[in-house]
Amino acid sequence: MAFIIQKYTEGYGTAGVKELAIACFSYFYSLLRYRGSTQELELSKYFHSIRRYYSSSQMVFLFFRGRSGLFAVLRALGITNGDEVIVPGFTCIPVPNAVVFTGGKPVFADIEQNSVNVSLATIEPCISKNTKAIIVQHTFGAPVADIDQILALCREQGIALIEDCCHALGISYNGKLLGTYGDAAFFSTERSKMISSIYGGITLANTPHLSQRIAEIVSREFFPPDKNHIQSLLTEFIANNLAIWPSLGIRFPILGYYASRAMRWKPLNDQAALRSIKADGYDRLLSASQAAISLSQFRRLSSILNHRRILSSYYDREMKRRGYATLKGLNNKPLLRYPFIFHKRDELIQACASEGITLGRWFESCIHPAACNIEKLGYRKGQCPNAEWLSAHIVNLPTHPGISLRRARYIIDRVAKRITGYM
Ligand SMILES: Cc1ncc(COP(=O)(O)O)c(C=O)c1O
Repeated sequence: MAFIIQKYTEGYGTAGVKELAIACFSYFYSLLRYRGSTQELELSKYFHSIRRYYSSSQMVFLFFRGRSGLFAVLRALGITNGDEVIVPGFTCIPVPNAVVFTGGKPVFADIEQNSVNVSLATIEPCISKNTKAIIVQHTFGAPVADIDQILALCREQGIALIEDCCHALGISYNGKLLGTYGDAAFFSTERSKMISSIYGGITLANTPHLSQRIAEIVSREFFPPDKNHIQSLLTEFIANNLAIWPSLGIRFPILGYYASRAMRWKPLNDQAALRSIKADGYDRLLSASQAAISLSQFRRLSSILNHRRILSSYYDREMKRRGYATLKGLNNKPLLRYPFIFHKRDELIQACASEGITLGRWFESCIHPAACNIEKLGYRKGQCPNAEWLSAHIVNLPTHPGISLRRARYIIDRVAKRITGYM
């Protein structure tokens, strides 16, 4: 029986049955005919929806992945050999990789103590005469509190500010959308993000000059994805959505296996990033199929954010009520995941997994995932002590639409019980 149905709760689950139907249509359409698909219209609709939403931005660009959009921005800024780009010391590998791919040098800024974000105080000591850009990351959707002060510093010193909004699609801070503060911003619609098209990225250019430069880079160095990329993605999306029902807390592993076999799935190679090598698909733009899947979710973004806010606030209240330590800056935010700290993190995650509760471990090392070669990126152990401590203790609770409030109550009860047992 366990081969057919397994207990399952995962940190994803934003795409639903409607997106599954769109993906199936796209898949069969792509088998018959690739170019000139009726879905090209969806690409244009998605582009215009994002432009309307981020109307104060100068221009929107759509990429195959979030990291591709960051790379395009860095290229457009002219980052090259010897230029330094400040990146958060608590991030994932595609961020410093994009700097390395331009020939630039990532310089890691620590996060604030008991926070998931960098601040003016942690960034300032990293600035040198070679600093050309600063990347700030609104981790889990929690805004960088000092964003105005960091922007003022950048303006004063002629440094470009890039916002990593991969966790923060649709989130505002002091009445202004994250992604519209700096010179440019990039977002991800990878499967674990606010909305999912398996892979996908959005870039905002907030100045006319940068917008023109990105457009030039895109026309010279980026290409539409080919049929194989798209079919691989759609196969994975369809197989996963057929096989996993987070709202019921179950999955059907055999069904997923046979669905991907039947569709002859060739997974895209994502291992290259761990070795700081450009992976297949890096220099690609968003496909019409991905746009159709994203658009369908983007249209209900406000309800997705609302759901995430309710669950995040609930977890936050419950953590405080039970007297557990909470991190700064999480109050009343529609978080991508709700993070907290626990000294026996690995035991807690394992114990909850045995009850069918999957807790996350973002970011499990200061440059996630732990398997990547951080020395190759120029990170020295001890350089970002707050980030190193947090990554050894952080646990995340799911907030996606596949988790009901009832399920969230169950999760927090089980987690609290385990925590008490370890204290
Ligand atoms: C904070 C952060 N920045 C950048 C990225 C890169 O996004 P993508 O996987 O779409 O390239 C991710 C996710 O992988 C992320 O979590």
